[in-house]
Amino acid sequence: MNSLFSADHQMVVVMVVLVLLVGYYRWSEPNKKQKKLLLPPGSMGWPYIGETLKLYTQNPRSFYSKKLERYGDIFKTHLLGCPCVMVSSPEAVKFVLVTRANLFKPTYPPSKECMIGPWALNFHQGIYHSRLKKLIQATFLPSSIQAIVSVIERIILGLLPDWENKIINAHSEMKRFSFDVAMVAIFGSELKDIDMEKMRDFYYRIHEGYNSMPINLLGFRFHRAMKARQSLDELLKKIVTKRRENKDGGGLVGALLRSIDQLTDSQVTDNLFGVIFAAQDTTASILTWILKHLSDNGALLDLVMKEQEGIKRELIKEKRGLTWNDTRKMSLTTRVIQETLRAASIVSFTYREAVEDVEFQGYLIPRGWKVLPLFRSIHHSSDFFINPEKFDPSRFQLLKVLES
Ligand code: HEM
Repeated sequence: MNSLFSADHQMVVVMVVLVLLVGYYRWSEPNKKQKKLLLPPGSMGWPYIGETLKLYTQNPRSFYSKKLERYGDIFKTHLLGCPCVMVSSPEAVKFVLVTRANLFKPTYPPSKECMIGPWALNFHQGIYHSRLKKLIQATFLPSSIQAIVSVIERIILGLLPDWENKIINAHSEMKRFSFDVAMVAIFGSELKDIDMEKMRDFYYRIHEGYNSMPINLLGFRFHRAMKARQSLDELLKKIVTKRRENKDGGGLVGALLRSIDQLTDSQVTDNLFGVIFAAQDTTASILTWILKHLSDNGALLDLVMKEQEGIKRELIKEKRGLTWNDTRKMSLTTRVIQETLRAASIVSFTYREAVEDVEFQGYLIPRGWKVLPLFRSIHHSSDFFINPEKFDPSRFQLLKVLES
């Protein structure tokens, strides 16, 4: 008996126990990592079709709001052949687009990527994306915009006589205005070498085909748009070559050409077009919504007019044009813009794709699933905005008071 519990035997027993413990730990640990996470709540609808028909046979807004009511601010569905997770809380949107953006890649249909240009930053992640983003943001900082306020003033003063005592199509005119401003921001205030009308014509044709069926055959809108995109690319490349030779550089084109790591012509032109596309229609839509809200709210229109007339009187008295500082004095006008951005939410959502299995708030977002942050739902949630369906610019005044 004694020999059974000798020091040697005790040592062997301890070692066996240790080996068993390590073995158990190794066996159980992966299991812990693979702990069964649940998919978010929701319904995947019919095989393959999913809930696509449901979405297209009702107002998309009520499709999303019914889901939110039933499942909360994260739910799964299946649309256009893809399993999706939709998120609509500020935390989730920040997680997907900012803090863990590396886990979600931008995802666009190939037809869109082909039309905008594969080098546009929208389709990239990592170093290339952040490099381009910095260059683009620098061109649109207040310090850069300040320099073109007087040019923007000239553009609008040139358009006003065309609108006087006429019924105009507000959206078309706002598109004309925002296109002209985009040209200045992109090419600098010297536009002598730019054939604006050709550029506008190509751009409008591309825009018309952007959301059409992606059939690249003669007679189809998509084909016409792709042809226009090719012509626009040739036009942009000529401008880029000339600007490279002359080392002449205002606007975004100048910033891209001055980039320390030289960009190729295609990288420059795809990003120029990408920015025109991102900036022009969004701005035109918001301007149109502002006009609509002001024409629907006579009392508000009077107050905005009063603010603008006050600034105009100063300009006349001081015999000068509009400056950036004047725009800082337009507090009511600014609140009207902020409230319009919220209420219209012209970009209702965006798309990403999970590059690996991701755990979020105890749910699994499987690799390859689309993730859609729903901006509009946040902007219209009573959790964040009192009486969210009411157009009320004063809510942003309150925000300012609370912030200060
Ligand atoms: C009311 C006007 C605008 C709205 C509502 C708007 C909205 C948005 C949204 C929601 C995104 C994010 C898309 C995503 O990450 O999936 C985006 C991206 C972008 N926008 Fe705008 N935008 C507006 C005006 C502009 C303007 C004037 C510019 C001009 C520079 C611009 C340039 C861009 C660019 C370059 C991107 C891509 C950014 C990236 O991939 O990191 N946008 N915009």
